[in-house]
Amino acid sequence: MEKQRGSFTNKLGFVLAAAGSAVGLGNLWRFPYLAAKYGGGIFLLVYIVLAVTFGFALMVTEIAIGRKTHLSAVGAYAALDKRFGFIGYLSSIVPFIITPYYCVIGGWVLKYFTVFLTNQVAEAAGDEFFTGFITQPAAPVIFFVIYAGATALVVMMGVEKGIEKASRVMMPLLIVLTVVIAVFSVAQPGAMEGLIYYLKPDFGRFSATTVLAAMGQLFYSMSLAMGIMITYGSYMKKETHLEKSVRQIELFDTGIAFMAGLMIIPAVFAFSGGSEEALGKGPSLMFVTLPKVFNSMKFGTVIGAVFFLLVLFAALTSSISLMETLVSILMDKLGWKRRKASIVTAVYLLAVGIPVSLGFGVWDFIAPMGMSLLDFFDFLSNSVLMPIVAFLTCIFIGFVVKPETIIEEAEVNGELKSKKFYKVMIKYIAPVCLVAILIFAVMEAMGAIAV
Ligand code: TRP
Repeated sequence: MEKQRGSFTNKLGFVLAAAGSAVGLGNLWRFPYLAAKYGGGIFLLVYIVLAVTFGFALMVTEIAIGRKTHLSAVGAYAALDKRFGFIGYLSSIVPFIITPYYCVIGGWVLKYFTVFLTNQVAEAAGDEFFTGFITQPAAPVIFFVIYAGATALVVMMGVEKGIEKASRVMMPLLIVLTVVIAVFSVAQPGAMEGLIYYLKPDFGRFSATTVLAAMGQLFYSMSLAMGIMITYGSYMKKETHLEKSVRQIELFDTGIAFMAGLMIIPAVFAFSGGSEEALGKGPSLMFVTLPKVFNSMKFGTVIGAVFFLLVLFAALTSSISLMETLVSILMDKLGWKRRKASIVTAVYLLAVGIPVSLGFGVWDFIAPMGMSLLDFFDFLSNSVLMPIVAFLTCIFIGFVVKPETIIEEAEVNGELKSKKFYKVMIKYIAPVCLVAILIFAVMEAMGAIAV
């Protein structure tokens, strides 16, 4: 079965997953709106602390599991211990939840690219433009279908290679452009207050919600607790220094998220006054704020068009590898051919994505637990399922497989410097925190505690 899948797509899938997992909408779209909403500096601080402690331990674990077993998540857990194979299945549910709504956001990015192409930047800078767009019955669905269709086409034809080549050029450009826009944003009158809000932690705003949000974001952005890093690890060479690679991935991923925040949050203060309402916009924040920035920029239309094109590519590499993950699971587990698996996956994406898209307009009466459908799926994966997978992984590694096994794998090529820390983290600190966070998440969602 493994052979039939072909090492070509397989290896490619890996490269894409690696690149796609590093940078995507998680960094550019999700991080800034969470940081804006959950207190700015305090969110940033909590995120960084979690990344170097908890995120570090979990990423080392997942990559080591993959490299040791040479298997992707579904097989890897079972290979270590038959009784725990279910964790692999559980983790592979996560990309099934994420991919449809990821493509809905991809559709929004596509829409904004066309808005700038057709020179509607002044309109887009208006306060009601975004809401006007997502509440329409047809337009957002059309953009979603085009975006999801493009993703599916690439996966079905197995032509990820072209996209990957293109994104090698696009990624560095995106980083440069993000820096340019961030510098411009920060230089706007009124932005200073936003810069302070973003960089200076206000401990008075620390709460369990901050930690929950930061942890969910960590999983999402670094593609943890969903089996992806295990697959990534299964292709990692023994010669590669595991700890160093993990540090590099974390630094890179966090660096880009940080720049995205710098591009958006000071601009919220400069252009929308930094009120609680302006900061709490959630998923729409990037789409509401950036057009205002581009509108006040010289050559803003062109820069905006290029920017959204680059974001589109960053999003595409991610949605392609997300969809590739789903397709591989179906191919492996059900023995389906690529074509069949791709078509079924595409139908699934449409079936879930269309309601998510309509959930902001004509179908907004569907509001599970008081959330929009998009927020609901996001909550389900990032605040519920991923903490459960992470918790089970910690217990499994900490007490069944034993941390020594992971440490040994990490040390095939060079010492794991944070050995003692790793052990304590994976056995005690992480699981305890995860349970606390999970209980809190569910209680909050049920409305048991008001925040
Ligand atoms: N980390 C990606 C982002 O920041 C999103 C993502 C989650 C992802 N899981 C993935 C991308 C799996 C590729 C493969 O946008």
